This record gives sequence, structure tokens and C-alpha cells, in this order.
Amino acid sequence: MANEVANERAKMPAAPNPVLERRTVENANRNLLKYLKPGIRVLDMGCGSGAITRSIADKVGPTGYVLGVDPNEKLIEQARQNSAGQPGLAFEQGDVYTFDTPDRFDVVTCARTLQWLAQPKEALINMKRLVKPGGYLTILDFNHEKLTWIPEPPKAMRLFYDAFLKWRQDAGFDNAIADHVNELMLEIGFQDVAIEPQHETARRGDANFTVDSRLWAEVAELRGPQLVKADYITEEQRLQAIADYDSWIATVGESMRVYLLAVEAQQPD
Ligand SMILES: C[S@@+](CC[C@H](N)C(=O)[O-])C[C@H]1O[C@@H](n2cnc3c(N)ncnc32)[C@H](O)[C@@H]1O
Repeated sequence: MANEVANERAKMPAAPNPVLERRTVENANRNLLKYLKPGIRVLDMGCGSGAITRSIADKVGPTGYVLGVDPNEKLIEQARQNSAGQPGLAFEQGDVYTFDTPDRFDVVTCARTLQWLAQPKEALINMKRLVKPGGYLTILDFNHEKLTWIPEPPKAMRLFYDAFLKWRQDAGFDNAIADHVNELMLEIGFQDVAIEPQHETARRGDANFTVDSRLWAEVAELRGPQLVKADYITEEQRLQAIADYDSWIATVGESMRVYLLAVEAQQPD
């Protein structure tokens, strides 16, 4: 039952997802750049519609191989359509807890996905298995409790955001997962875990301020209906959060920072 709730809440809605499609390895997974060399093999677990995966494939070139895996059939379909013909790039439907292949990878990356898992340690154990000796497991994720807005967002958005965190927590997801991955990596047998802050800040005056700070209006648009259906907020409250937050962006909003850490470790030889 608990797992059913987690699976239901983790499921991305089928609607087009502009947030995922704006991402590239440079703007949303830059911690990977140091590893990406022509010819290497990379597994992107929880790849969504494959936007970051495609830019990883550009870096490893046609002599490399990149496999994107996600349980969401619709997202995998979109990923395949968006990458048709790109050499050395493939997508497969699969789940982080159970995915298996005889392949072993130089880099296994998992970005913004552990936040949607009720058993992150089990997921890490399965991913560790898929890393070659000497290869790297690299996790990028949020601590949603450390989001900062300057100045405070409108009350309606704060209410939506608090409901979002509660809805996630009730499904068993760790809102502070970024700050717990280090410990989990050590528990499953990695040593010398490296932690790199990867916070993303949208500041007024930046070319992309309106689009980037709007992330939470997009979450209310895309995920909000799930919260309404589960009685965490009303439809009116959801719409109010979007409208008031858009007006905050247009008027007084100065900055919005999401707290993200990259947590990485090398597979022993
Ligand atoms: C926020 S998206 C991140 C997509 C991409 N990695 C990025 O950083 O833009 C989270 C992804 O996790 C996937 N996901 C959820 N549960 C999963 C599971 N059990 N195994 C693998 N992926 C899962 C979702 O389908 C979704 O595509």
C-alpha cells in the first residue's frame, strides 16, 4: 500500500513537461562534465524525456554509448522521438530498483530522481552494481527544505509549497534527500564520497529570470492536480498560488534558489 502511494505520486503526468526539456548537461547537470569524454559508457537513470541524456550523448560522441532508463512509458516514447538517429544513444523503460543489464558503465548518473523514491538506499545498491570497477556513481538531488525565495513568496504559493512537501513526505519521500545521500553512499560500501554544491539561482536581471523562477508555478500546473485529487489543497488554492506567484515574479521577486548537491563516489577496483 505504502509503495502504491509512492509509485502513484512519483509518476510524472503525461502532459508536455517544459521543465525537463529545458535541461542540458551544461545548465542542469554540470557536475558530470568532468567525466564526459569521447568513447565512455554512461547510464542515465530516471532520464525523463531524455533532454540531459541527449546532451551527455553529444559529449561522449559516436564511439561512446549512453543509455537512458525511466519507468514512464510516455517519457521514454518522447525521449526516443526526440533523439531519433542520434548515434550511441538508446532509451529503455525500466525501474531503478530492478533494472538489470549485463553492461557495466563508466558513469551511472541519477539526477533529481532519488527525491521521488521511498527507498533510496535500495536504489543506490542497484545502481552501484552497474558501475564498472574504477567508474563513478553520481547523484544530483534537492533538499526542498532549503529552498530560498527573496523576498518571501505570496502566501498562496507558500501554502502550495508546504502542501507539496507534506504530500511528498506522506508518500515516504525524503524532502532533504540531497543532504542524506553521502551517508547512504558510505553505508552501501563507497569510500571517499565527494559532495559538490550545485544550487541553481534565478535572479532578477538574469535573461532567464522569468522562466527559471517560474519553476514552482510549473510544478503547481503539472503536479498540483495530483495534490488537489489527494485533498492536500483545493483547486482554487492551486490556481491562486499560480496567479499570485506570477505576479510576484512580474513585480517584487528578486531571487529563487533551489538547493542541489552532487554526491559522487568511485567504484572500488
Ligand atoms: C524530476 S524527473 C528528473 C528527470 C531528469 N533526470 C532531470 O534531471 O531532468 C524525475 C524522474 O524520475 C523518474 N522516476 C520516478 N520513479 C522512478 C523509479 N522507480 N525508477 C527510475 N526512475 C524513476 C520519473 O519518471 C521522472 O522521469
